Amino acid sequence: MKKILLVANWKMNPQSAKEARVLFDAVSDNVKKLKNVETIICPPFCYLSSLKPSKSAKLGGQDVFWELQGAYTGEISARMLADLGCEYVIVGHSERRQYLGETDEIINLKLKMALKCDLKPILCVGEQTGQEMGEVVERQLKIGLTDIAKAQISNIIIAYEPVWAIGTGNACSSDNALSAALFIKKILTNLYGRFLAEKVPIIYGGSVEARNAADYIKESQMAGLLVGGASLDAEEFAKIGQAINNL
Ligand code: PGA
Repeated sequence: MKKILLVANWKMNPQSAKEARVLFDAVSDNVKKLKNVETIICPPFCYLSSLKPSKSAKLGGQDVFWELQGAYTGEISARMLADLGCEYVIVGHSERRQYLGETDEIINLKLKMALKCDLKPILCVGEQTGQEMGEVVERQLKIGLTDIAKAQISNIIIAYEPVWAIGTGNACSSDNALSAALFIKKILTNLYGRFLAEKVPIIYGGSVEARNAADYIKESQMAGLLVGGASLDAEEFAKIGQAINNL
């Protein structure tokens, strides 16, 4: 059986390397016993070198640049992430789309570079308040996945994160999450055929907590969760892990 993915997106937290190590160690310890869950922790870049990934707690970046090397002040390459022990990288998070002006075209370039360097990209898609889910997600997927070959698609994870649910406490209902999961599967099937589409994990993110975590796996056909706020609390994060491990 495939493991359920549990991704922690620490965003721009915590504020010191020491706190990051304490949190990472606590989380690593807590998730060791979760046999059915693959935990991936995505800290700020500056902490990556001081965190040691393990079989139970893998590392991911929160972003990546689209070129391999050169004169790109402030950017971090996919190879640098891989060198620091990352196996995964979040690409196209809505906060980067919103505050850093990332377009679907930029996100496509980042995805391709991540794949080239053998990182597994976690591509975030989702609509804002007032937008139609299908319209937005279809565009984000079609442009985001342009020129991604059939041989590569099963290395990508799609995270459905409705923007209105992120950090608001206003989590998506499991019915709506199910509709989104089915819709994403449909688009992937159109692009890659059913066999390959089935291999792409679709996960949910947006105000996930221990009390709603299991619903998305049981009722919404999600293959995992992307957790922001609650991933900064080692105990709450462990509870989320237990809730999905024991299904
Ligand atoms: P949240 O964030 O869990 O705090 O809503 C999720 C995310 O942005 O990935």
